[in-house]
Amino acid sequence: MHEKKVVVITGGAKGIGKAIATTYCRKGYHVVVLGRDEKALKTTSSELARLGCSIHAMKTDVGDATECSDAVAAIIADHGTIDVLVLNAGVSMRGTVEATSIEVAEKIMRTNFFGSLNMIKPALPALRESKGSIVFISSIMALRGLPFTSYYGASKAALKILSESMRCELAHTGIHIGIVHVGMTRNEPQKRVFAPDGSSIALDERKKAATRESVADKVVACSEKRIAEMTLTPIGKLAGFLYRHFPRLSRYVTGRFSTVTRFYR
Ligand SMILES: NC(=O)c1ccc[n+]([C@@H]2O[C@H](COP(=O)([O-])OP(=O)(O)OC[C@H]3O[C@@H](n4cnc5c(N)ncnc54)[C@H](OP(=O)(O)O)[C@@H]3O)[C@@H](O)[C@H]2O)c1
Repeated sequence: MHEKKVVVITGGAKGIGKAIATTYCRKGYHVVVLGRDEKALKTTSSELARLGCSIHAMKTDVGDATECSDAVAAIIADHGTIDVLVLNAGVSMRGTVEATSIEVAEKIMRTNFFGSLNMIKPALPALRESKGSIVFISSIMALRGLPFTSYYGASKAALKILSESMRCELAHTGIHIGIVHVGMTRNEPQKRVFAPDGSSIALDERKKAATRESVADKVVACSEKRIAEMTLTPIGKLAGFLYRHFPRLSRYVTGRFSTVTRFYR
């Protein structure tokens, strides 16, 4: 059992999830990271343990409801509680609806939407007891459909609605529900997304995008300050403003801009 607060991060061994895990570790939380890639889980836990962090890694596919409930049961048995659940595991795509198979849509929904629900359902009793926090890692693509990322955007928009319903339903319990719409962020070089046929492709390098560490700081602030909804990066914030107040203009601009420049690749 832990004196420290316990945070569980899905997809916590790579990319933004690893930065989130590192930031919680540095703040003195006990961190549990979940993912499928055993090598990454091992590497991340030894790197963070070397920094003096209290960390535990568990191989879990969030798309599998049984694996998620087993993981939650093991976490409660080992650590007694869950104070923060960060739903970060996610997969993305590039391709038009016309070209991209329904199997790709199913895989994206299974990880991004059902993967979140698979963790939330078994973790809720512990979160009720701790009056803890659930933070959804969403995207600015949840705020408006953009070309080539339709199924991904739909999965994140589904999380937005799920978070809003849960915030109403759980208001009396003291559980905090937060959602962070992440803007364009620098990727790890090995990151892959689905191509239209379901194979995986690399993304272009994004030198000017936000750092993973800056995203992690906001995610931790979301749980600690119990913020309901955050949109990150200046472009993300500007887009959110335009979508709300100038819907016709923003429809035109996002459509033209991303079609012409493949900005979202
Ligand atoms: N990068 C961006 O610009 C950006 C922008 C907006 C939102 N986001 C969101 O931020 C989150 C992290 O993205 P990232 O850029 O860090 O991507 P990433 O480097 O590809 O990391 C994705 C993480 O999700 C995990 N994951 C994927 N499928 C899983 C499954 N079935 N079960 C368990 N874990 C799974 C991966 O671990 P394993 O491979 O070990 O399973 C990995 O740790 C995602 O939700 C993404 O949608 C990213």
